[in-house]
Amino acid sequence: MDQKMTKSSQPINSMSRAFKYSSDGLHTFHNCDFIKHPRFQQAYKYGLINARSGISIEWRVHVAIWAASQCAPLQGDFIECGVHTGILSGAVMTWLDFERLSNKKYYLLDTFEGIPLEQISTTEFSMGVAQMNKKYDFGDKTYLGVKEKFKKWKNCNVIRGKVPDTLTQVKSEKFSYVSIDMNVTAAEIAAAEFLWPKMVPGAIMLLDDYGWESHIQQKIAFDEFALKYGIQILSLPTGQAILMKPYTIQHGNNE
Ligand SMILES: C[S@@+](CC[C@H](N)C(=O)[O-])C[C@H]1O[C@@H](n2cnc3c(N)ncnc32)[C@H](O)[C@@H]1O
Repeated sequence: MDQKMTKSSQPINSMSRAFKYSSDGLHTFHNCDFIKHPRFQQAYKYGLINARSGISIEWRVHVAIWAASQCAPLQGDFIECGVHTGILSGAVMTWLDFERLSNKKYYLLDTFEGIPLEQISTTEFSMGVAQMNKKYDFGDKTYLGVKEKFKKWKNCNVIRGKVPDTLTQVKSEKFSYVSIDMNVTAAEIAAAEFLWPKMVPGAIMLLDDYGWESHIQQKIAFDEFALKYGIQILSLPTGQAILMKPYTIQHGNNE
């Protein structure tokens, strides 16, 4: 939009400049000074505990921290479906000093065994979604690592098992922050359908996989979800997306 010009009014050859951020599918010249902020660095560092080596998802974490911070003053609990080692939630809880929010709970749901194969559709299979289970370490070690990492927050519940089955263990009736990151459509839509009615006005649902090419089935499903509830999805260059529970009563498209 605002293409910078040289003194001789020639457009600067953008490819000759170094990207300010180049990681995680996002390459940009835009400012990302948030990364240098000591508070961000502390939160990000905690998030990375037990994470796969070589991971660099600062901008995604920045988005999660921002979203959760908007939701902190609202009524309602926090939840993440799809935790693995807890990068996003570890950073969010550190940033917010979550135990300070003693009236809130933070639920962390994961199989700690990867995506249940029966939840992967034929199309997702053909797109390699099942292969994602091979990218991560799972099992007791991962689960116990998460228990240890999050035990300092007494208001955090780690729930092991398959979404949507485990959602019955989530007793809260109000949510203000919902993070969904399971890499598989069926479980994500089931979680969204369960949680959306419980989200308070202004609450944010953060989708981690929406814009990723390999997760196009999730985008298709969430676009339908948005149409059904009459809401707009904010698609982000990080591959994430944001849905906000409207403050006013919305009617579905068929009404
Ligand atoms: C990409 S990882 C999540 C990363 C995490 N959000 C973070 O910040 O580090 C996806 C996780 O979803 C979990 N998962 C996939 N399908 C699931 C299901 N149906 N129920 C519970 N967890 C599931 C996997 O076990 C895996 O740990």
